[in-house]
Amino acid sequence: MKIAVAGKGGVGKTTVCAWFADFLSRQGKDVLLIDADSNATLGLALGFSEGQLPVPISEELELINSRVGSGIINLNPKVEDIPERYSVKKENIKLLVLGGIKAAGSGCSCNANAFLKALLAHVVLERDEIILVDLEGGIEHLGRGTVEGMDALIVVSEPTLVSFKTAKNISSMATELGLTKRILIFNKSDKDNFDFNGYGDFDNISFIDYLPDLVKMGMSNPCILDIEQRKICDPIFSDIFKFLNKED
Ligand SMILES: Nc1ncnc2c1ncn2[C@@H]1O[C@H](COP(=O)(O)OP(=O)(O)O)[C@@H](O)[C@H]1O
Ligand SMILES: [Mg+2]
Repeated sequence: MKIAVAGKGGVGKTTVCAWFADFLSRQGKDVLLIDADSNATLGLALGFSEGQLPVPISEELELINSRVGSGIINLNPKVEDIPERYSVKKENIKLLVLGGIKAAGSGCSCNANAFLKALLAHVVLERDEIILVDLEGGIEHLGRGTVEGMDALIVVSEPTLVSFKTAKNISSMATELGLTKRILIFNKSDKDNFDFNGYGDFDNISFIDYLPDLVKMGMSNPCILDIEQRKICDPIFSDIFKFLNKED
């Protein structure tokens, strides 16, 4: 099962990825987490120290240049060995830190971008674990083939109009690319005080409360798996997992 997690900055994508992976890992499932945000924080959220974390693949220039070549870029570089060589492991979770995938023409390093895209496509299309990809924003930087290989998109939103507008835009883009399972998580929001008119075209909607303990703990400890309160999310992730496993 391959799931992309998208949404506006700061809404809780990394938090949702880490918690969902933790939930699945406690159920005995193997998870490969991909941090595809240029401001990579998923490792810290999982409790790895800075020293334990690998540098993002996007910064492994020697590796990238040796695989992609110089001059004419090899768009099909060898990548199969990368997940095992560069990931770190915690319980049943493996974490691969990619770094951000850039939009074409944004002054990006083309070699690195070609390598990251090939690596992500490989992971999504060939690996057997549950894959969760923590994205920087929307899905527009992923290749079509990669998006087509995804089984579902989770869009995280705060309960604000602006955040929800971004969520709906991302969902529309996913629909155009053929993704049919679009899950909306309203994070930091209390369902009972909810005042939105309609939920867009999402196929599944969940709510995660605003958790003051998370904010309090974040001042001294970036590991969000250290708060017991996270387990109130277990039924939410259980329902989402059931929804994802449902036959179309
Ligand atoms: N349910 C929640 N309740 C309270 N704070 C939250 C909740 N979810 C996330 N946060 C906080 O919001 C901030 C942004 O979360 P993060 O997961 O890093 O967002 P993103 O990856 O989308 O940028 C963090 O400080 C995080 O602790
Ligand atoms: Mg993040």
